[in-house]
Amino acid sequence: MCGIIGYIGERDVISVLIQGLKRVEYRGYDSAGIALFGPGGLLIKKDKGKVAHLEESVNGQQIESSAGIGHTRWATHGEPNAVNAHPHTDDKNFIVLAHNGIIENYMALREELRQSGHEFTTETDTETVAHLIAEVYDGDLLEAVRRALKLVQGTYGLVVMCADKPDEIVAARLSSPLIIGHGDGENFVASDLAAFVQFTRNVTYMEDGEVALITKNKIVHKTLADKVVPKKIEKISFDIEHIEKGGYSHFMLKEITEQPRTIGDSMRGRLLSEEGTVRLGGMREKEEQFLGAKRAVFVACGTSWHAALVGEYLFEEMAGLPVEVEYASEFRYRSPVLDDKTIVFAISQSGETTDTLAAIQEAKRRVDTVFGICNVVGSSIARTTDAGVYLHAGPEIGVASTKAFTSQIVVLAMLALNLGRHRQISAAEGHRFIKELREIPRKVGTILSQSEKIEEIARQYKDHRNFLYLGRGVNFPVALEGALKLKEISYIHAEGYPAAEMKHGPIALIDDEMPVVFIAIQDGTYEKVLSNIAEVRARRGHVIAIATEGDKDIAKCVDHVFYVPETHPMLSPLLTVIPLQLLAYHVAVMRGCNVDMPRNLAKSVTVE
Ligand code: F6R
Repeated sequence: MCGIIGYIGERDVISVLIQGLKRVEYRGYDSAGIALFGPGGLLIKKDKGKVAHLEESVNGQQIESSAGIGHTRWATHGEPNAVNAHPHTDDKNFIVLAHNGIIENYMALREELRQSGHEFTTETDTETVAHLIAEVYDGDLLEAVRRALKLVQGTYGLVVMCADKPDEIVAARLSSPLIIGHGDGENFVASDLAAFVQFTRNVTYMEDGEVALITKNKIVHKTLADKVVPKKIEKISFDIEHIEKGGYSHFMLKEITEQPRTIGDSMRGRLLSEEGTVRLGGMREKEEQFLGAKRAVFVACGTSWHAALVGEYLFEEMAGLPVEVEYASEFRYRSPVLDDKTIVFAISQSGETTDTLAAIQEAKRRVDTVFGICNVVGSSIARTTDAGVYLHAGPEIGVASTKAFTSQIVVLAMLALNLGRHRQISAAEGHRFIKELREIPRKVGTILSQSEKIEEIARQYKDHRNFLYLGRGVNFPVALEGALKLKEISYIHAEGYPAAEMKHGPIALIDDEMPVVFIAIQDGTYEKVLSNIAEVRARRGHVIAIATEGDKDIAKCVDHVFYVPETHPMLSPLLTVIPLQLLAYHVAVMRGCNVDMPRNLAKSVTVE
């Protein structure tokens, strides 16, 4: 969602801000802006549209400046236009700020401020905070931000400058991430490491309820209650190539294509072939709770929720542990039944999803330990959970999640194996499972090498308005994921269903205009899936089947077949999802859609 960058130092401020904003573009936004201290005071440039457009409008302007802040906005309050774009100021142009999050009590605050003479120019909740800080300011910016935020209800990642203080940026965080980058005679603040990682890898993470005073040579972290917070600078390992396209036309294609490596990275150093089990360092401290559990609850959103569903099949099949999968957004508004033998796993690529964070808070009220499965190292979810496992899939920039999904399944499979070995699986079985797991990257590679076959299918169906995706067992969540990928990036309506459910309703949709994608691999449900295929064909639906290599018969009863190599049935989603990712990608490209930044979507959903 919205992105923030702040910089103070000797470099060309405009260029640092624009580069930073370009690095956070992938999060999704509809307007962009910057504010800086120019020779004549605070200067603001903002507009609807892309950062490239903003860049054009400042191109060639050599403005000497000591500090600046920039923002990409994903509209919540007020339409995406130049007026509502951040940064925002008070009516005297004295305070300028950029904000991620939502100010819930802005209407009441606005009314009070209006009564004391403030005039508002935008429809945003954020503008209120600029007025509020200006109202309480008496010479100390950090102090004014602290005092103002005590009156604010909501969530914020906030960067603030003041016309009086050309050498200061103040940052504040509550439920919206901010990371500070420590340079030499310069400092950075951003909502996302990618925004400044080319300049420094020394970082401190702001925690909820903290404010920070950032100058060129000094950073002071405090709580809202004015207590200094000592911080340890962490050195992050981050490869800049990972956030660049590296010759691919889209990040999504790059990320689909790098899955043989990312799947391998998720298991690297963790598989113990001899013992037929795994070693997961991040689980060690809470191993007793994990192994002693009687039930598990997985909370997640979107694609991560689909991975959780795959995890449910894995845990139940391999470890005999009952699992419930919850939408994180629903979890805290129910009365979830949790006891000290229930373990909760929060699954998230970004580690910043607000709904998932809120579910973790709710779970923490009821259970001792919440585990995390995250990709982004040091993210809020990684730091809020008590133990867990990183995906090590590298930064995922394309808004549609692909490589994180397969890595989440790998991690869930390793956890299921670990638990299963303690409960019901023999060393020999564990050993066989690991052998299959090790083969997955190569098998994904063979699927990717046939991308043009999927491209051909995409060409035939790109203009259809509806798609149905059907699968059974552990491949039912893959059907959901295939449908989600297609609708997200190509804007074609698509539904995923368990194949047998089709006859309970969706079958009414089937006619010769309806492509139906079946995951029809040779596992325990194969024969049943063939019957479901026959039901679709009888109604003249077009069938695209994802089938097991060597299954010649299926070709006779479908319109198109794409083969994936055979594997352990529980690992099959790691293979069957790849052609579905490619199908969505090719269809979207052929329809001229913005694959990496689909309309209305954000990479990291930091609002409820
Ligand atoms: C789909 C997609 C979203 C995310 C969801 C959760 O391609 O990217 O559905 O999966 O917003 O995000 P994380 O995993 O970051 O919590």
